[in-house]
Amino acid sequence: MSSEPFRARRQRVLNRLGDGVLVLPTAPVRLRNGDVPHAFRPGSDFHYLTGFDEPEAVLVATRSSAREHHAILFLRPREPDREIWDGPRLGPRRAVKQLGFDEAYPMASLYERLEGILGKTKRLFYTLGADGLMDRSLERVFERLAVADYRGNPSAHPVIEDPGPRVATERLVKDRDGIKALDRAAVLSAAGHRRAMAFARPGIMEYELQAEVEATFRRLGSRRNGYESIVASGKNACVLHYVANDRKMRRGELVLLDAGAELDMYTADITRTFPVSGTFSEPQAEIYRIVLRAQKAALRAVSPGRLWNAPHQAAIRATIDGLRALGLLKGQRKRLIAKEAHRRWFMHGTSHWLGMDVHDAGGYIEPDGKPRRLRAGMVLTVEPGLYFSPRDRSVPERYRGIGVRIEDDVLVTRSGRRVLTEAVPKELSEVERLCQGQEA
Ligand code: GLY
Ligand code: MN
Ligand code: MN
Repeated sequence: MSSEPFRARRQRVLNRLGDGVLVLPTAPVRLRNGDVPHAFRPGSDFHYLTGFDEPEAVLVATRSSAREHHAILFLRPREPDREIWDGPRLGPRRAVKQLGFDEAYPMASLYERLEGILGKTKRLFYTLGADGLMDRSLERVFERLAVADYRGNPSAHPVIEDPGPRVATERLVKDRDGIKALDRAAVLSAAGHRRAMAFARPGIMEYELQAEVEATFRRLGSRRNGYESIVASGKNACVLHYVANDRKMRRGELVLLDAGAELDMYTADITRTFPVSGTFSEPQAEIYRIVLRAQKAALRAVSPGRLWNAPHQAAIRATIDGLRALGLLKGQRKRLIAKEAHRRWFMHGTSHWLGMDVHDAGGYIEPDGKPRRLRAGMVLTVEPGLYFSPRDRSVPERYRGIGVRIEDDVLVTRSGRRVLTEAVPKELSEVERLCQGQEA
């Protein structure tokens, strides 16, 4: 990707923030154990605005009262001795040329230069509390500014505003490059899920299926997942954030697979639930059909101008209808909806924003306090489910221990919607065919 889309994003964000200086560090390197670090992933906001993926870097971007933009990148300097150990670094000179920054300097000069920059601004856009080390270093910058300025100007440090919510609002409507990345992430995540259906069989461990899915993601070009894969067989499907993935799958069970590949920093988020030995049992099929109908009803509710939670309302109505038809809920439809009778078995929401973070930035409330309205370019998941705990005595035994979720990723378009993850089958017969080794 060229540097131009990142420059355009910086312009849009700086205009949204107004005059002042944005100081944005990338994600910190975190230790896993001993001196082993966790795999590094750049901060989402930082990557969004820079396209730069090395650790230990800070963006300092300014909009002046003349509406001029200026962007400086602070990064690790070239250091041949270190590069033998950690690999090549871009270094300041190439950062200017290749990434389109106005200036670039080694990290070591950050605070000295910030003293000059922050001494001249009235507004600093910086998120306190996210990076303690940086908070404390900025405090020292302010201390020095105060000492230097104590005769002339008693308010030495600028007003600090959190840029987070405004960057998030910008990220909510995806640009062309974001949509392209999400599309590709969806295509290769879909391939992983299809592979999972063909590969699953009784006797394998959940983590073996995980390896197969993730190997497919890697083979097709994804460096990492957008989140920990959930591979939940049998009753594990009733644990919503199950990630232990260490149980052996058995004949006759369902497996709920929630996994998404990340591509160019954007992730897909797909769930399918399918039979380990190729065929749904009757009780499993009964539950599956309710969730599928709810999911399709929710998908139809995605269109520009509708409230973001319209899919959830549609999913609830369809779920309650299905549970009534099955005899699990009794009474008037309207009353059941009013008292949220579905919640015992469908206890999560239907949608969240999707993008660089699996639960993406953006917020769900408009400034007037009402739920956000969908607009072309927004991307959200649609993922109703039903989960009957093995200990739930309020349902017939045949349903206990069954957990089903079906999750697709949807782009809001000007005329309606486009389901990005359509390539993974979800019709019951197609799922069975693929699980039995026949092409769906
Ligand atoms: N995979 C996380 C979620 O579906 O929200
Ligand atoms: Mn999701
Ligand atoms: Mn998911």
